[in-house]
Amino acid sequence: MSDKLFIFDTTLRDGEQVPGCQLNTVEKIQVAKALELLGVDVIEAGFPISSPGDFNSVIEISKAVTWPTICALTRAVQKDIDVAADALKFAKHKRIHTGIGTSDSHIKYKFNSNREEIIERAVAAVKYARRYVDDVEFYAEDAGRTDNEYLARVVEAVIKAGATVVNIPDTTGYCLPDEYGAKIKYLMEHVSGIEKAILSTHCHNDLGMATANTMAGVLNGARQVEVTINGIGERAGNTSLEEVAMIIKCHKDIEIETNINTQKIYPTSRMVSSLMNMPVQPNKAIVGRNAFAHSSGIHQDGVLKNVQTYEIIDPHDVGIDDNSIVLTARSGRAALKNRLQVLGVDLEQEQLDKVYEAFLKLADKKKDINDDDILVLAGADRTQNHR
Ligand code: KIV
Ligand code: ZN
Repeated sequence: MSDKLFIFDTTLRDGEQVPGCQLNTVEKIQVAKALELLGVDVIEAGFPISSPGDFNSVIEISKAVTWPTICALTRAVQKDIDVAADALKFAKHKRIHTGIGTSDSHIKYKFNSNREEIIERAVAAVKYARRYVDDVEFYAEDAGRTDNEYLARVVEAVIKAGATVVNIPDTTGYCLPDEYGAKIKYLMEHVSGIEKAILSTHCHNDLGMATANTMAGVLNGARQVEVTINGIGERAGNTSLEEVAMIIKCHKDIEIETNINTQKIYPTSRMVSSLMNMPVQPNKAIVGRNAFAHSSGIHQDGVLKNVQTYEIIDPHDVGIDDNSIVLTARSGRAALKNRLQVLGVDLEQEQLDKVYEAFLKLADKKKDINDDDILVLAGADRTQNHR
């Protein structure tokens, strides 16, 4: 039987921290409802103490959404936890996400403290949050740069204090996949009581390794992943939900399942991109404009013979219906012939050769060849029935 991997979406908290991406409450509710339809297990709705707007959004999202757990972020500070509990009062399933920095630099420079005192503050915060809710997640901020032995002590102490999930963030996106995977493995093997909690990944993408690190965590025992739509988030962003969901779907050998309805991935990606005014890079895995576009002649010829030659994902599986063959100066006759046939134009070989020659000349000048250009070259008109 497959293990379940819980999908914790933080688009509305870590994602929304990005300058220029702020959403109003109505827009946040729109995104939260889309995340519910997508099938995420946990929605991190905000950081209620940070502003009245965030507080209000957590309240309204709690009212608008039914199935996912609604989570609110706090520091390991009683006032934060009081406010988060208040903001979650209408949530059907609720979680408080509290935590503190555990790396030596955080302990020294952020808290002017020491390792023992940090453990005490962590334990006190978890116990305090448990007075309000049964589901408490603890984050060990900068766990990626925290030494494993000390991190294991922190994790053990917070689980004993009542944490149900323990988040191991690679806050600065520094870890290598092997290193992050080994960290999760170490915790799975050295923390007594680990079976009472779920370990969570939370990886940032500063060195482009967020998804690889997340998967290394999952392969070593983490059963929750913290992700965002389109990978948006602080600096270079967070792990992309769509990448993890499709890795799990493609690699049946991993024997893990998520609740994600993958056909909702593309529409959700478009919605978040347009509401946040944050374009998706064209070559972004899974949701970029070119993610399923075959443009070179050799690839197009292969795909037209059998899609398995160059496609590991059926675009329909992520909610994309578009034709994936893009016509450029690198395209071959097979692709042009196919597009003409889709448009209802069947040409003899000799005619096709002539149109192809004209097409190459045009494609050298014009980057984006559309269907109308093709029809003009073929001497046909879109409005006529060509068959
Ligand atoms: O990156 C990080 O460490 C975080 C925590 C607040 C969970 O976002
Ligand atoms: Zn983060």
